[in-house]
Amino acid sequence: MLVFSVAVLTLPVAIHAHFAAFALGMYCRNGTDSGIDNQNNNAPVQPLWMLKKEDWWFHHSNKCDEFPPNEGDFLELPANGEFTVELAPNRAGTTLSYDGRYTARFGDGNDHDEFDKLAKQGELTTCITEINIHTPNETMAAGTVFAISYNSNLSDVTAENLVVFSALYHTPWYRLAKYQVPNLPACPEDGCTCAWGWVPNGCGEPNMYMQGFKCKVVGETGNRALAQAKPPVWCEGEPDKCQTGAKQMVYWHQLDGNNVEVDGFDSAGMNKSPGYNRKMGFDNGRQTDIFDDSATVTTTSIAPTSTSFAPENPNKDPVSTVDGDDEDSSTLPTVPLWYYIPVVFNLSFVLQNL
Ligand SMILES: *[C@@H]1O[C@H](CO)[C@@H](O)[C@H](O)[C@H]1NC(C)=O
Ligand SMILES: *[C@@H]1O[C@H](CO)[C@@H](O)[C@H](O)[C@H]1NC(C)=O
Ligand SMILES: *[C@@H]1O[C@H](CO)[C@@H](O)[C@H](O)[C@H]1NC(C)=O
Ligand SMILES: *[C@@H]1O[C@H](CO)[C@@H](O)[C@H](O)[C@H]1NC(C)=O
Repeated sequence: MLVFSVAVLTLPVAIHAHFAAFALGMYCRNGTDSGIDNQNNNAPVQPLWMLKKEDWWFHHSNKCDEFPPNEGDFLELPANGEFTVELAPNRAGTTLSYDGRYTARFGDGNDHDEFDKLAKQGELTTCITEINIHTPNETMAAGTVFAISYNSNLSDVTAENLVVFSALYHTPWYRLAKYQVPNLPACPEDGCTCAWGWVPNGCGEPNMYMQGFKCKVVGETGNRALAQAKPPVWCEGEPDKCQTGAKQMVYWHQLDGNNVEVDGFDSAGMNKSPGYNRKMGFDNGRQTDIFDDSATVTTTSIAPTSTSFAPENPNKDPVSTVDGDDEDSSTLPTVPLWYYIPVVFNLSFVLQNL
């Protein structure tokens, strides 16, 4: 495809490392240099590894947490609905840069058709390196999450009040990723604080990702407050051991502040890696067991803003979704006309026999 090749050749920056979620409301969207709007920004994608808590917490390591979004910009979370973000190694490959000119199926600005071909032949089995996605294929991708704290001020967010509310298995994979929202209650007036998280499974340094957002629940909001979050627990093959209810994000392999320690091997014979998936007790999709049943709050109806972020998808790029249906529903094949012939025939048959 000529157009595609040209796009790749002219992509203004080599992008090869790590991932973040790009969307309205994100911290350090423009980068971490005051007054500069860096279209090739990869500040939020740097992995966190063996850092002190004051440095890894909300990506303070490069001061990403000190660059909040513009006032009024929020990641909007439709209660009982879904929201889409772009998982990418650099803002250049998202709709937030260059008017989306360099977007493709994957967040590095490439379609990677070769992945499909190799997967079909059963040959996508060794760590992919060309895009540093820490997995050999989609099936093995460890999973990512969003968590929410009902505090507008980042300084008030703690591991206990930052609750994982949505998991998306088999991500990061495609650029577009759709997360489900449970029956979340309304946020304080100045919004909530959210975080995106990922713990890759092998294929590189066993690090973690934590990135901040200002977020806001919209739509018909729920009537229960969230419960206090507890650390998740490794429970592969032993569902009785899983931590039920509201869970914290996974904090591991840091100098301090860890809430998860694992050793030994998983059922596949790999070093245990506490990813956001079944092995750590996270269900796929909206987390519905995170509420404090005794804490009733007022329900409201909050309209989404006209600027609410939903990345355009003119090329019908595939979307990572909970139901594993990678195709945008609008790309499903249309039913050919002849399909209706028997219906018409049967209908007339019925009519004739009335
Ligand atoms: C990011 O840069 C754009 C373009 O210069 C600017 O309009 C916007 O206010 C900046 N955002 C932040 C949070 O500084
Ligand atoms: C993904 O990679 C794993 C590890 O190499 C392999 O066992 C599995 O068969 C692969 N799955 C697909 C769908 O290619
Ligand atoms: C957030 O909390 C910190 C610490 O209490 C305080 O210094 C800061 O002014 C607060 N920020 C806002 C915007 O209220
Ligand atoms: C029409 O009727 C035939 C015979 O009963 C049946 O086999 C066929 O499935 C029907 N077609 C549709 C579209 O319902």
